[in-house]
Amino acid sequence: MTKLAVLGGGNLGRALALGWVAAGRFKPSDIRVTRRQADKLQDLAELGYVTSGDNAAAIRDADLIILAVQPQQLDDLLADIAGGLDERKHRLISVVTGVSIAQIRSRIGTRVPLVLAMPNTAVSIRESMTCLAAGDESEKALAEATALFDLVGRTLVIQEEMMAPATALCACGVAFFLRCIRAASQGGIEIGFHPEDALLLASQTARGAASLSLREGAHPEGEIDRVTTPRGCTIVGLNEMEHRGLSSALIKGLIVSARAAENLYSE
Ligand SMILES: NC(=O)c1ccc[n+]([C@@H]2O[C@H](COP(=O)([O-])OP(=O)(O)OC[C@H]3O[C@@H](n4cnc5c(N)ncnc54)[C@H](OP(=O)(O)O)[C@@H]3O)[C@@H](O)[C@H]2O)c1
Repeated sequence: MTKLAVLGGGNLGRALALGWVAAGRFKPSDIRVTRRQADKLQDLAELGYVTSGDNAAAIRDADLIILAVQPQQLDDLLADIAGGLDERKHRLISVVTGVSIAQIRSRIGTRVPLVLAMPNTAVSIRESMTCLAAGDESEKALAEATALFDLVGRTLVIQEEMMAPATALCACGVAFFLRCIRAASQGGIEIGFHPEDALLLASQTARGAASLSLREGAHPEGEIDRVTTPRGCTIVGLNEMEHRGLSSALIKGLIVSARAAENLYSE
């Protein structure tokens, strides 16, 4: 039975630990979660997770290790665990933004299998889009990591050089799509709905649109054609939004975001 160590029980680390148990694949007692202020993990401890501030001890009892700290915190964390890593036992998954396989390898000094994963905050509701990458030497670990993240949403294996674009489209993308929902709800208020109703209508409509787009063989433009009757109220709204740069704003925002993410990976 695989034992997990989530090193860095912050927003993402906690959401992953909770999601893997909610998926029914792990018991809380299968998962060690650490952070320096271990008292802040009390709620997880009460649920049966094994919590502590001791990274070295956490990896002794685990085989699959998830690195979930901020980029600037990673060196200290790796210094804690490097001496205890065992190539025959451990596999590492890093969800740390902007840190490459080579950078991690140079700090741990072992050939322990290593996978990069880029999930998003929707892991908390098991609806993440997670991109994963690994070097050839970690192919088995990549399959294992993919299965693990399949428990908290959907996954796609990509080349490592696509991690920065994946960061923009999927991790930052949550904020981009939420801003679209927020804007739609603001418009909804102006056309007559109470704020909470407007937000519900915008959010559920966005969810429905995403689900239509996710169906096998579907394409957004095909679904749009179904709701745009000639001279109708959809096409006038849509064309006005395009005149005001809707698609262009999203595309340009993504490009700038991916460039900023690229700078992180090349630092
Ligand atoms: N949030 C997202 O949607 C998302 C998506 C994709 C990737 N990421 C990446 O995932 C990583 C974590 O993000 P986050 O939002 O969860 O950040 P966060 O909330 O700041 O969590 C980081 C956690 O790491 C702990 N920590 C720091 N140093 C540690 C150490 N030496 N040993 C053990 N724990 C330590 C911190 O707690 P203490 O201060 O108590 O130690 C904190 O709880 C980041 O690199 C981020 O870029 C995040």
